[in-house]
Amino acid sequence: MEDPTTIRRLYGRSKGRPLRVGQSALIEELLPAIGVPAEGPIDSALLFGDARPLHFEIGFGAGEHLAYRADLLPDHGFIGVEPFLNGVAAALGHVQGRHLANVRLHMGDALDVLERLPDASLRFVYLLHPDPWPKARHAKRRMVNPGPLDLIAAKLELGGEFRLGTDDPTYCRWAMMVMGGRRDFEWLAESAADFLARPGGWPETRYEAKARRAGREVWYFRYRRA
Ligand SMILES: C[S@@+](CC[C@H](N)C(=O)[O-])C[C@H]1O[C@@H](n2cnc3c(N)ncnc32)[C@H](O)[C@@H]1O
Repeated sequence: MEDPTTIRRLYGRSKGRPLRVGQSALIEELLPAIGVPAEGPIDSALLFGDARPLHFEIGFGAGEHLAYRADLLPDHGFIGVEPFLNGVAAALGHVQGRHLANVRLHMGDALDVLERLPDASLRFVYLLHPDPWPKARHAKRRMVNPGPLDLIAAKLELGGEFRLGTDDPTYCRWAMMVMGGRRDFEWLAESAADFLARPGGWPETRYEAKARRAGREVWYFRYRRA
């Protein structure tokens, strides 16, 4: 079956409402300064000038989670990839506002960046509220599929962590089924509370807050690379 690593087509919107002047300036000036190089292999030394634990966020939305984590762990390096221009502009605003020196961003497809990293080089991978593609005929577009998961597994170090959050019941069941079939990820849940309650160090994004306001449940999955 085709999956997002082989079809490599970005679905969904890449642009929304026009940027404010300050946001355009961030895209033109700050993004090139903290952008992931456009091509070629990348690693911690190239991106941050030293060897440090790396975190990678797939589809960071407006960047609240990425900024929170980067602020919490200033000695770690954070790479975020998001194709949505307005989201990238918002994330740049957080980077500037919080004076974060440990964040590198790329506007585009996360899988294109992920595959350029060395194997076993990431301590954390975050995938929060991935686009749900609820219709069965669109299931191959979901990020939680064998192709992207193989790539995530390859890039995580042993003992590294994959965090997945969703507010979509179909995606929740799908993720449990797909992840449950993998031997390279160990689900870090001992009781229901472990995936029903927000784990420490996992801030709420605006997207998640909206889902809760709309009465939807949120599930938090943590997997250790085994
Ligand atoms: C529902 S939003 C959630 C945003 C954010 N993670 C949050 O929790 O607030 C899903 C995001 O995934 C992004 N996305 C979709 N496909 C992607 C891809 N291949 N690489 C990176 N981001 C992607 C979308 O642009 C969108 O911003």
